[in-house]
Amino acid sequence: MTWTPSDWRKLPAKHIPSDYPDTAALAAVETRLKGYPPLVFAGEARRLKQRLAEVAAGDAFLLQGGDCAESFKEFHPDNIRDTFRVILQMAVVLTFAAAKPVVKVGRIAGQFAKPRSEPIETIDGVTLPSYRGDNINGMEFTPEARIPDPERLMQAYSQSAATLNLLRAFSQGGYADLSNVHRWMLGFVDRSPQGERYEALADQITKSMDFMAACGVTSTSVPQMAQVEFYTSHEALLLGYEEAMTRVDSTSGDWYDTSAHMLWIGHRTRQVDHAHVNFCAGVKNPIGIKCGPGMETDELLRLIDKLNPTDEAGRITLISRFGSEGVEKGLPLLARAIKKSGRTVVWSCDPMHGNTLKTESGFKTRPVDRILSEVRQFIDVLSTEGCYPGGVHFEMTGQNVTECIGGAQAISEGDLSSRYHTHCDPRLNGEQALELAFMIAEKLQGMSRAETNVSRKAG
Ligand code: PEP
Ligand code: CO
Repeated sequence: MTWTPSDWRKLPAKHIPSDYPDTAALAAVETRLKGYPPLVFAGEARRLKQRLAEVAAGDAFLLQGGDCAESFKEFHPDNIRDTFRVILQMAVVLTFAAAKPVVKVGRIAGQFAKPRSEPIETIDGVTLPSYRGDNINGMEFTPEARIPDPERLMQAYSQSAATLNLLRAFSQGGYADLSNVHRWMLGFVDRSPQGERYEALADQITKSMDFMAACGVTSTSVPQMAQVEFYTSHEALLLGYEEAMTRVDSTSGDWYDTSAHMLWIGHRTRQVDHAHVNFCAGVKNPIGIKCGPGMETDELLRLIDKLNPTDEAGRITLISRFGSEGVEKGLPLLARAIKKSGRTVVWSCDPMHGNTLKTESGFKTRPVDRILSEVRQFIDVLSTEGCYPGGVHFEMTGQNVTECIGGAQAISEGDLSSRYHTHCDPRLNGEQALELAFMIAEKLQGMSRAETNVSRKAG
């Protein structure tokens, strides 16, 4: 039986809206999108898979991050640039510490649709359908805004195309040249302790580059120094849109979802026989699987059998999101099962989605301490189990928001209201993201020292 991109329609599907008032209008938009240009190329998705294969082998580190939900309202070149530069800064910190390439993947240029815990929302006695992401309905608390509107898919497509265009320019047009390492600093992070640490590192890099230049190695002689590879990703949730963006690659004859390089299956839609897994099994992009509380080892193995029957390296990234209180209980079993099965995977950690809580004043927030603790435990557990902790997946913005509490800035519950802008989950701001990068860098350095000691002893 050969797979086709619309097969998912025959299967049960969670979190896909069924209340479009005009389904003919939705079908017409999807047909229009099928004739639109792809956003990414199959060859790029394949290159990312190779990079992820290097991560799986322990030779590189995956850094994946961006907004919880992109929005039409916050669409602005400065916001895209600021997210991009925080990722560059984090990558510099990690590359320097791990002395390994860092594979950079944004949650960007397509991260719109959201699965919601509650289908309805009640405020002051008024109940309306929940907001489900800007490509489905509007965030405003009015009955009109909450009606799914197919034209939003067109706007999401065009915003994704424009975002990707700018990201391609930033990553290849000179902005990402390593000699700009000082210029990536965001104004508000500048004078903070994290900013100072970053500046010290950037000084070291500049000195090394001056030395290399004196030896004749510059971005003119080695053009790769002036560019970075930057990939896009989002949750493959709204399958009508994903189907419309799926094309046969003329080189390989395989199906690729051209809406992003990498897609992931969310914690709420990973049922082996359901629509989302069927769709992701048919396209050849790299696929992430969120692994959180309730995931059984045989369920995970069945998912991997279905999504990667040939054990292709780089195809599967397992994104652990147990919460700081749940890692010890949930992760070792999965890690052991994978190790025993001999399956090739990238292990990554999403320290965000298991650590969300609500304050008394009603803000959804995440304590930075718990985020850092989950990453530390993730690294320790996997190292103990003989697996490679290969990456992180986090929600972040380059804006100076106050959405996650704690961290070096010591954002308090009372501060949350001052700059709380997220459309969905609370994100790390630029300084908190750098703090996370430095913490991981220290852990990775500790690990490579331990590995060196082991190999010395063995030698
Ligand atoms: C997300 O990544 O935005 C998300 C909803 O995560 P999860 O599926 O792990 O809850
Ligand atoms: Co989120």
